[in-house]
Amino acid sequence: MESYLLLKNSNLAYLKSIPKTIVLVFNLEERVVETLGKYSKNFPSVNNKQLKDIFSKTSYLEIKKLLENKKEDIIIDWKEYKFEISISKLEKDNLKALFLFDITKYLNIEYSKEQELQAVFDLAANGISILDKKGMFLYANNFFQKMMGYTMEELYKESCISLSSDEYKKPSEMAINAAIKKGNVVNFRKVCISKSGEYMNASMSLSYLEMTDTIVMITSDITDDIKYQEELKKQVELEVSKRTQQYEIMCHQSRLAAMGEMIDSIAHQWRQPLNGLGLMVQGLRHISNEQKIQKEFLIEFEEEMMEKVSYMTHTIDDFSDFFRITKKKEMFDILSNIKDAIRLIDAQLSINKITVCINVKENEDLNILGFSNEFRQVIMNMLSNSMMAIVDNKIKNGFVKINIESLDNKLKIEIFDNGGGIEEKNLPKIFDPYFTTKEKGSGIGLYMSKMIIEHHMKGSLDVKNYKEGTMFCIFLKKKEV
Ligand SMILES: Nc1ncnc2c1ncn2[C@@H]1O[C@H](COP(=O)(O)OP(=O)(O)OP(=O)(O)O)[C@@H](O)[C@H]1O
Ligand SMILES: [Mg+2]
Repeated sequence: MESYLLLKNSNLAYLKSIPKTIVLVFNLEERVVETLGKYSKNFPSVNNKQLKDIFSKTSYLEIKKLLENKKEDIIIDWKEYKFEISISKLEKDNLKALFLFDITKYLNIEYSKEQELQAVFDLAANGISILDKKGMFLYANNFFQKMMGYTMEELYKESCISLSSDEYKKPSEMAINAAIKKGNVVNFRKVCISKSGEYMNASMSLSYLEMTDTIVMITSDITDDIKYQEELKKQVELEVSKRTQQYEIMCHQSRLAAMGEMIDSIAHQWRQPLNGLGLMVQGLRHISNEQKIQKEFLIEFEEEMMEKVSYMTHTIDDFSDFFRITKKKEMFDILSNIKDAIRLIDAQLSINKITVCINVKENEDLNILGFSNEFRQVIMNMLSNSMMAIVDNKIKNGFVKINIESLDNKLKIEIFDNGGGIEEKNLPKIFDPYFTTKEKGSGIGLYMSKMIIEHHMKGSLDVKNYKEGTMFCIFLKKKEV
């Protein structure tokens, strides 16, 4: 009869049909007047019993909190199960109902999840710890404990700030505050001190968990990485210094090679005036046999000799000028420097009947900032390569053409010859040090040229074949070098 009345309460009717739920209806004396819900069949009857006799003392105390509206729901142990309990007042006869929902299974799942997580933490090859908002340790996995040399009991008294080296105490505090504010801080690097006093470079990632008001901190020991990087840096520095040394040696070699060419050149340039002077000196004897030497004749004679001597002096000046090392960058005009370079091997060029012509628009600004001697050396290398190609391939009407063009902020210099070009398979190698196809070649001419143009002058030097021969193309920046 009573049950019928209770069932009319729609809430109750609904709740009692939920699986794993028991509804205990009790009166003012806290005595159970009815038990509802199929799930109650698994438990001994509690009808007519008072709540304090049904549950353990601690569970009953919790239930009291429900009765006094101090809590909305509670979790208690009953038999070997765990129940979530809430309370509801019924409309009739000062009756109330306790709704017991069996959550044992869910708690077990949570428990096994916790165990899984624990296993992950303990197996992790990184330090994982949980901190409170002040950075104090609440938990640390085995790895972290080993890494820092502290047991968990000892860690409870420490914070991630106290384990930092002095200069990193403040940044560590800031990292914690930043994690709380922003949610996380990734790869914060600092130096930690282990219990034995060892310094350790560490990288930390911090993440703030709002739900628990705690911070998860992952710590990796990067001391070895840093050592490795430092080692690597040292090796790179060593390698660079070796290369610089090698480069300097090559510079020297290339200068020596150029000097050899220059001596050849001087020999050629001097041959004619020397012959001329020789003949004139011999001629002097014949003239001296004559009674009367006209003054005009002597003056003419003197002028001619002086012209030859000054030509020879000039050649020597060019030569010494070429080998003067410019230490400072200076503004120079590339056209006059190209002309100088041509003049230096003029004699050989004309012996081999090679014409050199320069095409450039009038009034172009051809000034750039850099090392003029180095630039001249590049042009010399190119000219001498072209000349050799023309001579070796016995080309008639050999020529070298130089086009100079001023673009927006660059100068473009194209040098092409009709020496027959470079074998395709050699094209990728011609700028390599010591690559040569010549019996007496050293193979540094083009390597040095590339270094000078690309490294010293920050420009570019490239090569390609065209139908009659080779074309080199140089770009130089006008302003900054
Ligand atoms: N204008 C050109 N025509 C044909 N081949 C060329 C030309 N310029 C360079 N080469 C090729 O590139 C190679 C490398 O030139 P590079 O100037 O570096 O060395 P090299 O002339 O052999 O020796 P050196 O160091 O005495 O100048 C040459 O041996 C040659 O085979
Ligand atoms: Mg060469």
